[in-house]
Amino acid sequence: MAIMRPGRMGAAMKAACRLSALAVAGCLLAGAARAAEPVSDELRSALKPSTADPTLAPDLLLPAQDMAWWRDAKFGVFVHWGLYAIPAKGEWHMFNDKVPAAEYAKLAQQFNPQHYDPDAWAALAQDAGARYMVLTARHHDGFSLFASRASHGQFDAPHSAAKRDLVAPWVQAVRRQGLRVGLYYSPLDWRFPAYFHPKDMPENASAFKQQTYGQVEELMREYGRIDILWYDGGWLAHQGTDADAAWFWEPDKLNRLVRRHQPKVVINPRSGWQGDFDVEEGDAPIKGPIRARPWEKTFSINGAWGYVPEGQVKSTDFLVTMLVDAIVRNGNLLANVGPDADGVIPPKQSETLRGVGRWLQRYGQAVYGTRPGPLQPVDGVHGMTQRGDRCYLFVTRWPAGELQLPMLPRQVTGVRNLSGDEVAWRDGPHGLTVSVPAPQRGLPVTVLELRTSARP
Ligand code: GLC
Repeated sequence: MAIMRPGRMGAAMKAACRLSALAVAGCLLAGAARAAEPVSDELRSALKPSTADPTLAPDLLLPAQDMAWWRDAKFGVFVHWGLYAIPAKGEWHMFNDKVPAAEYAKLAQQFNPQHYDPDAWAALAQDAGARYMVLTARHHDGFSLFASRASHGQFDAPHSAAKRDLVAPWVQAVRRQGLRVGLYYSPLDWRFPAYFHPKDMPENASAFKQQTYGQVEELMREYGRIDILWYDGGWLAHQGTDADAAWFWEPDKLNRLVRRHQPKVVINPRSGWQGDFDVEEGDAPIKGPIRARPWEKTFSINGAWGYVPEGQVKSTDFLVTMLVDAIVRNGNLLANVGPDADGVIPPKQSETLRGVGRWLQRYGQAVYGTRPGPLQPVDGVHGMTQRGDRCYLFVTRWPAGELQLPMLPRQVTGVRNLSGDEVAWRDGPHGLTVSVPAPQRGLPVTVLELRTSARP
């Protein structure tokens, strides 16, 4: 069985390259040629490769049994929320529009989300069929949604017009819904000049690093059990990779501190340490064979991660297709919403999520708690999951005649069409053949359940 282990550059990048002009710039950036037009740092951030050193602190990796819940969960909801919701230009506004830190800080006095209702957010994630949520406790702008003594300049929610910790009630709400709790934290903070010149400004650099260690410890110590720690921006000056900045962040030391407080927290790879799973960012199609390491596809349902008025909001069918393409390749999907400055998740994003929930209600048995395979997926056509003696075949594009598959390791003893009534099938010496009449197919994907037993 061919198994591949792509970095962020691998699959994500190549797929992205085919997609948009922006991505083309990213491909050039990746070294195929010199980019003729300037590449934004935001794009560079989205496309930067993860080349973490696998020999760095492998003892910190969670054992397989502690990753099982995450691999079973399949679907999570990401929330990007912070001061950037006020100007409504996305979470990179401060940097992209060159807003001086002192000017940007004034937004804190306007940040008073009257309709912030974390129970409503958690209920929406539950309706969406998500099994976990991840919230931006602090993004690159440096503003903490939580009460943070370690925050440089006390740039946190209790010192804003909100006058309270906004993470603590969210953690409780997510738990009340029976979902797992994930916190996003950005080691990088644009307010520190040392982020851009780490070697030239030792004092500022040391304060910068101390803030990250202090805040990560606060998050890991003061909010009860945390299930996922989702770093983003463990690099320096928007250059190189997270791993290139490991000399500065010492991610092994940082994550050792994390494990002291949260021995079982699942950690993503963006601190410069390899992490417990890989991340593929962006909405490029998912391709290739089953991946050896657990991984997560993440993109925003709306245009930006942080709040911008709703424009081309992704459809439920788009998310379902991404979810299926991820799970048949050993991945999860983390789909992002950007609540507005008042704390409300906008209606179209909510509707897309509820649609995924309706789909999962019908097909959840083929999703949750499964593992990919036994057959390798074929890009844009089909893929499989399995649990016990059941296999699930997801067909996104039917051939003109029958769909011909290789022989499964186990004998197929029955096939049920979960998307309709009829299905014809044959398990012969040359493999498995299935066909479903067009009106009996599902959109955007037909799901078939295969009963199997050991081959005689
Ligand atoms: C990127 C961006 C960031 C976003 C993140 C989510 O790296 O810098 O704004 O939070 O991706 O994956």
